[in-house]
Amino acid sequence: MSLPGMFGRDLEDTDASPADPLALLGMWLPDPADPVKPLMTLSTMGLDGYPDARTVLLSAFDGRLLRFHTDARSRKASELAAVPRATMTLVWPDAARQVVVTGDVAPEAPAEAAETYPTRSRALQLLAWLNTDELAARPAAERQAAWARFDAEHAETPLVPPSTWVGFTLAPRRVVFWRGHAEGPSNRIMYTSGEDGWSIERKAG
Ligand SMILES: Cc1cc2nc3c(=O)[nH]c(=O)nc-3n(C[C@H](O)[C@H](O)[C@H](O)COP(=O)(O)O)c2cc1C
Repeated sequence: MSLPGMFGRDLEDTDASPADPLALLGMWLPDPADPVKPLMTLSTMGLDGYPDARTVLLSAFDGRLLRFHTDARSRKASELAAVPRATMTLVWPDAARQVVVTGDVAPEAPAEAAETYPTRSRALQLLAWLNTDELAARPAAERQAAWARFDAEHAETPLVPPSTWVGFTLAPRRVVFWRGHAEGPSNRIMYTSGEDGWSIERKAG
């Protein structure tokens, strides 16, 4: 079954609860070869005890781990160093679908993280170099001049990732698939990982 927007595919029989949530997740996510990556809300445990959240790109899903990339100096990186757990929320309103994935986070090896950098747009590659608090504090004209200067100075050769470019993987422990319906109640399937594999519960939406 094909659905609109960035949504991938769904089961023909949405009453079915496949045993493996990661296979279903792979169907819901866009084709890995699609250069446009889905957005998600990445929630972490704040160092002050309050939750923290922001939007990031889901760089990849290999059928087991979900990957995202960021700056080593970012708040999320500090929070994940303290508590390596996170929740990813992806929503496709046009398809009436949401998936919430919670799990354990680990840093990627630098060589692995570096492989994603060339797949980002030139603007995002430049941003990885220039997105500092120091520059953010400068007036807009100065920020834009610094950007144009750096871009021109590095026009001849492809950019390499800065040392602050880092990647993380999330290994799912809980996966909750939400489906809405125009003429009926929404509905969730919640998968929780345990010693005997995945347990499955049907929940109200
Ligand atoms: C559409 C969109 C996509 C974004 N993608 C990323 C991303 O892939 N990685 C990233 O580090 N920040 C991304 N950001 C910026 C984050 O939302 C956030 O502002 C930044 O990473 C700093 O977050 P932190 O201070 O909580 O660590 C994106 C923001 C938007 C609005």
